[in-house]
Amino acid sequence: MSHQKSTLGEFIIKNQSSFPYSSGELSSLLNALRLAAKVVNHEVNKAGLVDIFGDSGDVNVQGEHQQKLDVFANKTFIQSLKNRDIVCGIVSEENDEFITIEGQDKKSNGKYVVLMDPLDGSSNIDVNVSVGTIFSIFRRITPQGTPVEAKDFLQPGRKQVAAGYVVYGTSTMLVYTTGDGVNGFTLNPAIGSFYLSHPDMKFPKKGNIYSVNEGNYGHFPEPVKKYIKYCQQVEEDRPYSHRYIGSLVSDFHRNMIKGGIYLYPNSTVNKEGKLRLLYECNPIAFLTEQADGIATNGQQDIMDVIPTDIHERAAFYCGSSSMIKKLQEFIEN
Ligand code: AHG
Ligand code: MN
Ligand code: MN
Ligand code: MN
Repeated sequence: MSHQKSTLGEFIIKNQSSFPYSSGELSSLLNALRLAAKVVNHEVNKAGLVDIFGDSGDVNVQGEHQQKLDVFANKTFIQSLKNRDIVCGIVSEENDEFITIEGQDKKSNGKYVVLMDPLDGSSNIDVNVSVGTIFSIFRRITPQGTPVEAKDFLQPGRKQVAAGYVVYGTSTMLVYTTGDGVNGFTLNPAIGSFYLSHPDMKFPKKGNIYSVNEGNYGHFPEPVKKYIKYCQQVEEDRPYSHRYIGSLVSDFHRNMIKGGIYLYPNSTVNKEGKLRLLYECNPIAFLTEQADGIATNGQQDIMDVIPTDIHERAAFYCGSSSMIKKLQEFIEN
């Protein structure tokens, strides 16, 4: 794979031949996501102005209804994907059912399905803290030209052909993998192009950050409670620092760069966990493994779970390999 400092558009084309199924369509799909990310970025940057220019439900100067950002992000990504005849179906956090996409001939000719969380960490928007978009891409199972079916979406994460996220942070980045490492691109807002700024991202083997909503401590399983106490012990390499933004994308992004572990356990309140398997855990797990980390539900690698529902939830632990292995020692004993 070429790692020359290039724009995202150039990089996608240059590395097209390394895709397992290279026909240009996956490149086009990634370009559709890249375009939508720029549009959403523009809107996210204006989020603090809603009270000045009109809140959700209001009518703006063009006579258009203002939308909540997660609705806006959802529509933007769906429209961008629909505009190209590559995707036959979409699962989104914001839609109860999967969306079928048909071409002009009324057939679903697209080869790929996309599963997405259009705006992750949306409770952070009001307070000017980073949010994100997460996406997961599979080849469909059913034949091209036929209607997409639930089984096209209910594939184990292992079958993903690409996955990634956009983090709308102090700068906006698009980070993705096609199974050949993880690369991160930073948006230059003056020019409107993403540039390869973080080639071949890897989790440091060891880290000193643990990220968990510790307010829920009393509801966590015993082994997780013990692991958290381990993180807090005063030892040569501990206590670890606790960092939690409350946006999976942002917490993951920081931990992948600095080294750390992210935990969202099942609990007495969230019996199955809180995070969504298909459009939060699986894509982040694909990135984690490609960056030399481990992603598990505590019992098995997340990407080996066979999904049964498009919105199902999972316990989720991911991060630097040595930290996850330590957690697993607590779970297994
Ligand atoms: P979303 O905003 O897409 O609904 O996702 C929120 C998720 C995830 O991003 C975050 O890590 C987690 O929920 C935070 O949950 P708690 O507030 O329970 O910690
Ligand atoms: Mn989310
Ligand atoms: Mn969301
Ligand atoms: Mn939500």
